[in-house]
Amino acid sequence: MAKKTIRDLDLKNKKLLIRVDFNVPFQNGVISDDNRIVQALPTIKYAIEGGAKVILFSHLGRIKKEEDLQKNSLKPVSIRLAELLEQPVKFVPKTRGKELEDAINQLKSGEVLMVENTRFEDLEGRKESKNDPELGKYWASLGDLFVNDAFGTAHRAHASNVGIASNIGGAAAGFLLEKEINFIGEAVDNPKRPFVAILGGAKVSDKIGVIENLLKTADHILIGGGMAYTFIKAQGHEVGTSLVEDDKLDLAKDLLEKSKGKIVLGVDVYTAKEFSNDSEKHLHTYEDIPADEMGLDIGPKTILKFKEYLADAKTVVWNGPVGVFEFSNFAGGTIEIAKALAELKDATTIVGGGDSAAAVIENGLADGFTHISTGGGASLEYLEGKKLPGIECVDNK
Ligand code: 3PG
Repeated sequence: MAKKTIRDLDLKNKKLLIRVDFNVPFQNGVISDDNRIVQALPTIKYAIEGGAKVILFSHLGRIKKEEDLQKNSLKPVSIRLAELLEQPVKFVPKTRGKELEDAINQLKSGEVLMVENTRFEDLEGRKESKNDPELGKYWASLGDLFVNDAFGTAHRAHASNVGIASNIGGAAAGFLLEKEINFIGEAVDNPKRPFVAILGGAKVSDKIGVIENLLKTADHILIGGGMAYTFIKAQGHEVGTSLVEDDKLDLAKDLLEKSKGKIVLGVDVYTAKEFSNDSEKHLHTYEDIPADEMGLDIGPKTILKFKEYLADAKTVVWNGPVGVFEFSNFAGGTIEIAKALAELKDATTIVGGGDSAAAVIENGLADGFTHISTGGGASLEYLEGKKLPGIECVDNK
């Protein structure tokens, strides 16, 4: 069903609350990937141009103790946003109270304000994360209208998304949320065929729901990464010291049977004795992984096999690296998959969250993809076919 969007709102002079997901990674105090900020710009710019007084809410990290506060302030994010917008962003280091209310009341049409990390409210009583009714009501009282553009947080029912929406009279989707719904929702519900999914990452247990849901719609599911070894062992092969979830072997067997050939595993694998970038690398087939070695990346024959399945694909959804991407010596398979997808012509290519999205961006391949999802957990749950609270709280047209 079509959702109401920011285009349907009269923004002029309105105090517009926008929930964005600026939960971005930091390395040594510096933002190491600003994709989530960049992807929220169209909504924020549209609001500015429409004459709204823009008030941004986001979380950053998880707040459990006093020491978490300083390292999770959104201040550096507000500075990056101001650079990208090429206009000032007024940062308020508070999540409630007079300082925040005064700053909002002084905002002029077209100006932007960012509220401190919504999860600072989690320090006592987890108010944000438990969708405390009083908090959602208070934040809603600060604005006239609400736009949810935080796809990355859409699998959470928190005060700053669901809470605000239910107290301000509903929500409209921002352009990023709309885009995520259109691309991921469409790929799963109504894909152009052949529809190929590539799943990687460490654990089968993280992807069971996704595999079960995709078995209903995908033509092929290519499996790599740590999770592949549980399937390989379920087929009766020895996998040495590779990562295996023994309690999921029966489930893997079941999925392989149910899939009637839709689940595609690799042929060869790079192994090493230690889980380390510097451990010597050996190539083996899945049938002869040595007892004292573990698989850390897919091998060249697997890459070729996967490329054959991808060659005529019209829709591809990729979630999770096919090797230990954080080790440069075992990142080759993931990079090759990223390149193969970027080269596909006439295919809708969607990469979801975390390391696989990082592989695309870091290798300068983003332009070759139709959509790089800003959701990690959210894109996985969406692929599982679950209803996401952050999407459900947006009004239908
Ligand atoms: C994410 O990075 O997946 C989202 O921002 C949600 O963060 P969370 O898992 O801490 O709720």
